Amino acid sequence: MRMRNKPWASDFLLAHPKYVQDPSVYKGKWKTHFGYEHVVLEIGSGKGDYWRSMARMNPNVLWIALEKDKNVSAVALKKTEDLENGVWIVNDAANLTDWFEAGELDTIHLNFSDPWPKKGHAKRRLTSETYTTTLLRLLKQGGQIKFKTDNKLLFEYTILQWDSIALKMEEFSVDFRRDEHSEDAITEYEQHFMDLGQVIYRAVWRKV
Ligand SMILES: C[S@@+](CC[C@H](N)C(=O)[O-])C[C@H]1O[C@@H](n2cnc3c(N)ncnc32)[C@H](O)[C@@H]1O
Repeated sequence: MRMRNKPWASDFLLAHPKYVQDPSVYKGKWKTHFGYEHVVLEIGSGKGDYWRSMARMNPNVLWIALEKDKNVSAVALKKTEDLENGVWIVNDAANLTDWFEAGELDTIHLNFSDPWPKKGHAKRRLTSETYTTTLLRLLKQGGQIKFKTDNKLLFEYTILQWDSIALKMEEFSVDFRRDEHSEDAITEYEQHFMDLGQVIYRAVWRKV
């Protein structure tokens, strides 16, 4: 998600209570420092609607948002003052191992990740080999990766990509919203695609 530069963004983020300026400080200590037994990371949180809704629905879990764009992040945090169990990192997922120990994450969410449709950009997809090795390393044994998208090509690519690694697929749907799923938040972003009549693809894998 790209947004026009907001000159106030950096100062705003620095002053925001939910912004984690240096996540490496918490490496290996996310659970003990923040006092939660379960840690979830959403990669590519955009304007934070999924992060915010899911954190509110699961108050006993620490929800960490990661978003590389500082302008989008500032807009997300402008809507968020009182989220007890949520924190926000502004950085690129390429640096994940600087902030988390192996096995430190219980669940990873990829919710409507950028599809990067051109073949030449495939390495930038969050489900490409570039990121997958790291995601697997940081996920605890038995932890889950939850992936949801409106993009058929990204879905197909991801299913193939993850077929040969140590992940066991546990859920799979080519029309996730066909049934009611009150456990999973529908953001404005997702609602927009649903209103256009597009199906939502979803799969869940467990590290084995
Ligand atoms: C379409 S938005 C997703 C919105 C959000 N997850 C939701 O469901 O409402 C995708 C976001 O992923 C971010 N992103 C893409 N690649 C990233 C990376 N390597 N590291 C961190 N954020 C990334 C983009 O900047 C963009 O804001």
